[in-house]
Amino acid sequence: MTETVLLVGGGGREHAIARAVDDSADAELYACASNRNPGIDSLAEGFETVEETDADAIVAYAEAVGATLAVIGPESALEAGVADALDDAGVYAFGPRAEQARIETDKAFQREFMADNAIPGCPDYEIFDDPEAAADYIREYDGDLAIKPRGLTGGKGVRVIGDQITAEEGVEYVLESDYEEYVLEERLVGEEFTIQAFVADGQYRVSPAVQDHKRAYEGDEGPNTGGMGSYSDATFELPFMTEDDYTAAVEIIDAVVGAMDDYKGILYGQFMLTAEGPKVVEFNARFGDPEAMNTLPVLETDFVSVLRAAREGEDLPELEFSNQATVCKYAVPDGYPTDPTAGARVNIDPDSAGEALLFYASVDAREDGVYTTTSRSFAVVGRAGTITEAEAIAEDALQRAGEEGLRVRHDIGTAELLQARIDHMNELRGD
Ligand code: AMP
Ligand code: GLY
Repeated sequence: MTETVLLVGGGGREHAIARAVDDSADAELYACASNRNPGIDSLAEGFETVEETDADAIVAYAEAVGATLAVIGPESALEAGVADALDDAGVYAFGPRAEQARIETDKAFQREFMADNAIPGCPDYEIFDDPEAAADYIREYDGDLAIKPRGLTGGKGVRVIGDQITAEEGVEYVLESDYEEYVLEERLVGEEFTIQAFVADGQYRVSPAVQDHKRAYEGDEGPNTGGMGSYSDATFELPFMTEDDYTAAVEIIDAVVGAMDDYKGILYGQFMLTAEGPKVVEFNARFGDPEAMNTLPVLETDFVSVLRAAREGEDLPELEFSNQATVCKYAVPDGYPTDPTAGARVNIDPDSAGEALLFYASVDAREDGVYTTTSRSFAVVGRAGTITEAEAIAEDALQRAGEEGLRVRHDIGTAELLQARIDHMNELRGD
């Protein structure tokens, strides 16, 4: 049976999902998003411009095209109840309902859920609905804290004392920002990694670990961004971790799925590999952006067959991956994220990216070409036997693109940065 798949969202992550649907046997793709992503548009039978949070309009489009499955990219749509609305209209949404998506959208719920269900890897935390009390806690706390506004902030609301800011700046932050509630938690020190699991009916299937780079500039300097690029290895682990570390992280995912048996969609675990093993930085209720661009291009199992099994309540297929390393690098507009300048021409498309894959993100497709906006523009992804080879493939595509008006973190996936990660972990573990 041909599945008619509706994709919600228009970023690089969703272009990667679109490609995975396009690569599946017997699937037709339709898409809707607030921006017309030219990469998704060219793969889809139809594209509707709607706000990702407009559940009624999305359901109307799903019904108009006869969607049999839906995949939801962005967290804003999950929070707005788009999965609930599609499910209720009889279109199975691969994405959690708003209540389950709180594991991402409400950071206080997330920590309380971990504590109540004895999920391993939870840092010490306190929740505050009074900024004055939060400020006092910061003043008195012995050690460094991560300051997290309770709700969604597009990855830009968290401040880490001892890393980005001082305790005094942390006090100012809680007193002067407009956020009303905060989670203050123990700062975790180590190396971060992501594992994305496909989840339905209390079952889950994991994918290889990925490391994202949140900081805007090379050498992990500058403000946090949505993610500047990421890499994965040819195995499920990353060079700075052991198989046991990976297994310990999967045990955490296992515990979450066990405690939330009505969860469906992607469960994204963001872990800090500390000297004591993996701890949970956060959970997301969707694929990562950029991490989806590492994982989906090496997924050999038919993507839509996983979604179909989830809808039918069948066992999820075991996932096969191509045993290739991947390196993903985003090109962002000059000045991103604080003071971005839009309007640079993008001189590359999926057909001119050489051996690399090209995924569009937030670009403006005009009559005479594709132009940057003020968000991340496009990503290139190299795949190869080693991270170093994959990095060279990504760089070759970036050279073809030219970089006028754009900025890239060229250090992502380089041998030098990988060695720094390994050395950091060895140092923490005292080897
Ligand atoms: P989030 O918006 O929750 O993705 O957090 C953004 C970034 O803040 C994470 O990727 C981490 O680098 C950092 N972060 C969040 N929580 C902690 C923590 N408890 N300790 C250290 N860093 C953290
Ligand atoms: N890569 C971070 C995120 O998707 O939230």
